[in-house]
Amino acid sequence: MEPKSFQLFPEAASSIAGQVDGLYAYLVLVSAFFSLLIAFLVVFFAVKYRRRGNEVPRPVDEHSIGGMVLEIVWSIIPLGLSLIMFAWGASIFFTESRPPADSLNIYVTGKQWMWKIQHTEGAREINELHIPVNRDIRLNLTSEDVIHDFYVPAFRTKTDVLPGRYTTEWFRPTRVGAYHIFCAEYCGTKHSGMIGTVYVMNEQDYDAWLAAGSGEGSMAEQGESLFNQLGCATCHASVLNKQTGRCPNLNGLFGSTVELKDGSKVRFDESYIRESVLYPQSKIVAGYDDIMPTFKGLISEDGLLKLVEYIKSLGPGQGEPGYGSQTSVPPAPTQTSGTPQPPARAGRAAQPKAGNQ
Ligand code: CUA
Repeated sequence: MEPKSFQLFPEAASSIAGQVDGLYAYLVLVSAFFSLLIAFLVVFFAVKYRRRGNEVPRPVDEHSIGGMVLEIVWSIIPLGLSLIMFAWGASIFFTESRPPADSLNIYVTGKQWMWKIQHTEGAREINELHIPVNRDIRLNLTSEDVIHDFYVPAFRTKTDVLPGRYTTEWFRPTRVGAYHIFCAEYCGTKHSGMIGTVYVMNEQDYDAWLAAGSGEGSMAEQGESLFNQLGCATCHASVLNKQTGRCPNLNGLFGSTVELKDGSKVRFDESYIRESVLYPQSKIVAGYDDIMPTFKGLISEDGLLKLVEYIKSLGPGQGEPGYGSQTSVPPAPTQTSGTPQPPARAGRAAQPKAGNQ
């Protein structure tokens, strides 16, 4: 990130950046064209139709056909130009809102005033994010305190990071390099210092970096020990505890739709897991009693994410809740029978078949 002499735009380093810049250029050109046109006409008409001597102005014919045509034309053309903005913007918005199913999952927790990042493989970092180039990356974001906003100008993506909720942001970095991370939501005195760096690495460098790891095991493994530590395993059937008990069996549940006591349905996703751990009485699965105690105050946001990863690892694989289970990812093989595998690694293993070879 050497200082550039003069740069109007940040570097474009993601697959969506070109489209965002294209739309931006269109907005600027349309605005500039009409600003100049109107400014010119104001001056031109002021001069051309200025009052000369004692000349009496001619009355305007309100019913002239020419006036009607003019009004229709100057309504239809701007309408069309604005609808192009709307359609183009909406299409980019939809693309940016829907992470591809086989994205690499990374967890980001915002906190006054830092970014804490966890990789499913176990590596953790603060204010730094290491990712491989040319892979779809899906960030799962949440906040420990106030609203933050994860912004990487070079990727042209920006997402609010909210306390008590999971949001997602995805991008596909296309160039190896280091890029700024900003917090784009005023979050207190050191908001401007809540910055960091994304390191986009080639596949080999990334694997080497990842292998250096944390030594604490994958997020799913850490989640599993948390699951046992907190006593979840005494009720919920899981890898260790296969009997179906007083509480729902969590095996193979992730990404599915579950029926609740009141007859409504809910998708079993990250947010539902989080809500069920903190507010277990709010959405009870049909056929079960309201017996689960709350774990609010007993578990951190980071811990919750580990539990989420563990429950994801119980299958049925890398289904991306919220984005349909019509994924292009084949069902993960026998994830429920052995030791839990970090889901993202499985996705990575599948990747070269599709793309790199
Ligand atoms: Cu966090 Cu501003």
